[in-house]
Amino acid sequence: MSADDVIPETLTPETAVPASDVPAPEEDQDLAERNANRSHRPQSERFLEFISSGWGDRAPSTAGRAPAADFTAARRSRLSALFPGARLVVPAGTFRVRSNDTDFRFRPHAAFTHLTGLGQEQEPDAVLVLHPVDDGTGDDGSAHRAVLYMNPLAGRDTPEFFSDSRYGEFWVGARPTLDEVATTTGIATAHLDDLRDALAKDVGAGGVELLVVPEADATVEAVVAEIRAQEESGERDARLAEALSELRLVKDAHEVEQMRTAVDATIDGFAHMVRALPAAVAHRRGERVLEGVFIGHARQEGNDVGYTTIAAAGEHATTLHWTDNDGRVEPGQLVLIDAGVEADSLYTADVTRTLPVDGTFTDVQRRVYQAVLDAADAGFAAAVPGARFRDVHDAAMRVLAARLADWGLLPVTAEESLLPENQHHRRWMVHGTSHHLGLDVHDCAQARAELYLDGVLEPGMVFTIEPGLYFKSDDLLVPQELRGIGVRIEDDVLITADGNENLSAALPRDPDAVEAWMASVRRG
Ligand code: GLY
Ligand code: MN
Ligand code: MN
Repeated sequence: MSADDVIPETLTPETAVPASDVPAPEEDQDLAERNANRSHRPQSERFLEFISSGWGDRAPSTAGRAPAADFTAARRSRLSALFPGARLVVPAGTFRVRSNDTDFRFRPHAAFTHLTGLGQEQEPDAVLVLHPVDDGTGDDGSAHRAVLYMNPLAGRDTPEFFSDSRYGEFWVGARPTLDEVATTTGIATAHLDDLRDALAKDVGAGGVELLVVPEADATVEAVVAEIRAQEESGERDARLAEALSELRLVKDAHEVEQMRTAVDATIDGFAHMVRALPAAVAHRRGERVLEGVFIGHARQEGNDVGYTTIAAAGEHATTLHWTDNDGRVEPGQLVLIDAGVEADSLYTADVTRTLPVDGTFTDVQRRVYQAVLDAADAGFAAAVPGARFRDVHDAAMRVLAARLADWGLLPVTAEESLLPENQHHRRWMVHGTSHHLGLDVHDCAQARAELYLDGVLEPGMVFTIEPGLYFKSDDLLVPQELRGIGVRIEDDVLITADGNENLSAALPRDPDAVEAWMASVRRG
C-alpha cells in the first residue's frame, strides 16, 4: 500500500498531525510530533464526508440503573457530611503511557469507582464533582449535588470518530452517552467541556472551598490550582484523600458481594494452576506457566488480576515479591502462589497458598507450613469486632516467635523476642500480617493510623491474614534442612457481628486437606 491510501498501513494510532504537515526530513520537527511520521491520515473534504456518512442507526440504549447505584449514593452522602460547603473533585484519572502512544489498560482511581460504581474503560478523564448546596437540598437530602463530567460518545461527523486513537469509536469502541451514564449511575452528567467553569463557580475569598483528590489526575489538579490561585488547600486536599480512604474501611453489602465474587473466581484460578502443575514442571519457566494460567483465568472471569501474581517455586518463595516468575518448578519443592482475581467491579481478592509441587509435603515442609498455619489461625481468633487491627498481627507473631524458639533459632526467649526493642523472630517474616482489601489490593492506604493499625475492628471490614516464614538458602542461622523454604498462607477475612468469616475458606489450607484437594483436582 502506498502512503496515500485511505486505510492506515498498520494498526497504529494516528495523531492529530495532518499528512501535509509532516515536514521534510531536513526540517526541524518537534519530538512530540514524530509519532506522526510513520503513517498518513486522510484529510480531504471528500474523505471526511465519506467516512461520516452511510452508517446505520445506533441501537437504542439498554442501559439500566446499576445494582451499585443505591450504594454509591449512600457513600456520597457520607462524604458530603464530612465536607459541608466544600466543592469536592474526584477524578477518575487518565491513561498511563506504556510507551510512546500506547497506554496501559485504563483503571480509574479507587475513590472514583467507590463513589460512582464505574470501573470499565469508558471513563478516562471523567471527574465526579460534589457541588455544595444548602443543607438538605442536595442529593438524598445531603448538602451536595453530584455531577459526573465526562467525554460522551462523539458524533460520526467529528474527527474523533475515526482518527482519535485514544477516544475514537473506530479505535476503542463507542463511548456511552451522557444520558446512558446518568441512567446507570443515578448521577447527573455533564460534558467535560463544562468542568472548568463549574469548578470555578463562586470560588475565591470567602467563597466556596475547592478540594481535589491529589495525584489522581494532573490536568484536573492544574485546573484546580489555577482556580484557587493563591489559596493554599494542600492540607485540606490530603484530608479529602484520607476521608475517601477511610470511607472504604467498612464495606457495604454490595462491596462484600463483590469481594465474594473476586475470591470465588480466585479459588477457581488456584484449581486451574494445580491442574497446570505437570505442564509447569515440564517447562523451563514453569513459574510463568502458572502465572499465565492465572492471568488467563482472571481475564476470562473478571477484569484482570488485582496485582502482579507471585509464582515462586523453591527458594524464590523467600523473596517476598517474587514477580519475575521465570524459574523452574521442580518436584519435591514447594511453590508459593500469591494471586487475586479483580472482578469486573474492580474489587480484588488477595490469596496465597503454598503447595507441594508433587502433591505431598515432606516432613520438614509440613513442619514449617503448620507453624504458619497456626499463626494464621491465631490471627483469625483475634480478628473479632472490638479488637484492634494490630491485635491480629500480634497474635500471629506470638505463635511464630514461640515456634522459632522451640526450633532453637532465636538467640533470646520468645517473650524477649516479642519485645518491641528486640523482634528477632521478624528476621524470618519481615512483612505485616494484614492489610485492608477492596478496590485496591492494599486498600484504604491513606487512612489515619488511629483508624487503620490502631483501629478497632468493625463488622464489614475486609482484610487479609497472611503470616509466613521465609528461610533464605544462604541463611547461616538456620539448619540446612530449612534453607530455601518459604511458606505464606493468605486468606481474606470479613469481620461479622460476632466474629469473622474466612471468605477464602473454600480453598483448603490445612496440609492434609491441601494434599487431598490437589489429588482430587488432578484426578479431574
Ligand atoms: N499480594 C500482595 C500482598 O499480599 O500484599
Ligand atoms: Mn496481601
Ligand atoms: Mn497477597
